[in-house]
Amino acid sequence: MRKLLVAGNWKMHMLNHEAVSLARQLKVRSLGLHRVGLVLFPPFTALTAVAEILNDSDLQLGAQNLHDRRSGAFTGEVSGEMVRSAGGSWVLIGHSERRQFFGDTDAWVNLKVHAALEAGLRPMLCVGESLEERQAGRLQEVLGRQLAEGLKGLTAASATELALAYEPVWAIGTGVVATPEQAQEAHALLRGMVAELLGMDAAQRLSILYGGSVKPDNARLLMGMPDIDGALVGGASLKADDFVAIAQAADGVVK
Ligand code: PGA
Repeated sequence: MRKLLVAGNWKMHMLNHEAVSLARQLKVRSLGLHRVGLVLFPPFTALTAVAEILNDSDLQLGAQNLHDRRSGAFTGEVSGEMVRSAGGSWVLIGHSERRQFFGDTDAWVNLKVHAALEAGLRPMLCVGESLEERQAGRLQEVLGRQLAEGLKGLTAASATELALAYEPVWAIGTGVVATPEQAQEAHALLRGMVAELLGMDAAQRLSILYGGSVKPDNARLLMGMPDIDGALVGGASLKADDFVAIAQAADGVVK
């Protein structure tokens, strides 16, 4: 049985004192939730401060991006080792906002996945189609390309640390959530593709999270679907009430 995972992507929100306050609330209010794993992705600047709060808790911490090189003259960039040394154990890779605004290509995403694993971080690889691609019937092709390129060079053994997030671009920050059926269809497709790339075992062990307008009122139905192993939450992760409600929904799902 896979433990569901609920992750909060805080994006470019939260000054340090706000991040500390939210992390403190989440730590206390998630104490009784033992059947769900929780991961917080604050901005880089708040990683250390949040790490100190989460130190003696089960909540996990990650960064929203990393550079693929270990060190060097790359002004403004952050390496996997730096994320580790700031207390992170996860890293988001290939979020659609990075692909759209910051030039993260499939090839670069792949380098970042390898860099994360080398630094001892767990990569959460994000994939998803745009509305145009979906309407043109290209769902399978787009997910297939993002996955095959993103996972290039990985072995089944190295993939044990990996998680996937299916985030249809049209559902991110829009309030338009994929229906549980639409999400399930994409997740099943992804799991099938992972089985082809890395074998059945890896595919069955892999957590595939859904992301895109997840809220307390739609979380349970989504996470109740057979191939949906949790949620990557943006907007609703900034409010303790909402994030805790989503975590509780996940904790209540028995698969
Ligand atoms: P959203 O963002 O929940 O605000 O739609 C999800 C994400 O971008 O990870």
